[in-house]
Amino acid sequence: MLSRSNFVANAIRRRARVQDSVFDRVYPPGIQLVSGTFWTPVDVALTTTSWLAAFGAKSVLDVGAGVGKFCIVSSLASDRTVTGIEQRSHLVEAARAAAAQYDAPVECIHGTLDSIDASRFDAFYLFNPFGENLSHPDEQLDATVELSRQRCLHDLATVERWLDLAPARTCVVTYHGFGGRIPSTYHMLRTTPKGTDHLRLWMKRRSGRAGGFFLEVGDDFLSHQQLEAISTRLESEEHRSRMRALLDRPLS
Ligand SMILES: C[S@@+](CC[C@H](N)C(=O)[O-])C[C@H]1O[C@@H](n2cnc3c(N)ncnc32)[C@H](O)[C@@H]1O
Repeated sequence: MLSRSNFVANAIRRRARVQDSVFDRVYPPGIQLVSGTFWTPVDVALTTTSWLAAFGAKSVLDVGAGVGKFCIVSSLASDRTVTGIEQRSHLVEAARAAAAQYDAPVECIHGTLDSIDASRFDAFYLFNPFGENLSHPDEQLDATVELSRQRCLHDLATVERWLDLAPARTCVVTYHGFGGRIPSTYHMLRTTPKGTDHLRLWMKRRSGRAGGFFLEVGDDFLSHQQLEAISTRLESEEHRSRMRALLDRPLS
């Protein structure tokens, strides 16, 4: 007789939708409780996986992997190893335990972005990983890691540099936006409302560094030029100088 976890894993291998509450039973109760806010829904992970397969991505990094939910679903549905990097050790342990339960080929690395070689990957999945730095403490996952505006800017700059230096055909999928700037060498190939926000697939059209960028804003995105135009109309000096810093800061 099939165990519940075998049944769930087989359904995902067939790319069948599995209810999040059923998938999440592999995790301890405290982790299940925050799933709706912090972990990728199964349906979002399945759509991302089929988009990435359609555009030839072979090695995917989940930037801020949490309890590995995206990595597990995507690795089962694609039959490829999916890698995640996660800063919180207790989440890494939960991710590894869940991946073992579902027999999913997941590599879950404990560390921060500075501990990974981004050139190993041809695709990045970004579920607004650094947004928590700017949330009210009541809305943060926990206080086990440093969370600050400074940290957020550092991590955004790291990923912006990865994307700017990446080779042509690198894919990026964002859910709830990335929070940083997508170099203008990328173009958006897919977008759809999914889960509790928008899912977008970007692909790098040509190698080389970008002269401008796109910024995801809610259900839309703005180009560097559109933001330049907005900046001239801002009345507050503080807002204008923040916008100038965003516009003038090099991507890499
Ligand atoms: C919104 S959760 C997404 C979890 C996972 N990607 C998913 O979709 O299920 C963001 C995760 O990113 C992690 N994170 C944020 N900044 C990080 C950093 N600089 N290095 C490693 N992990 C980070 C957080 O600890 C959190 O677990």
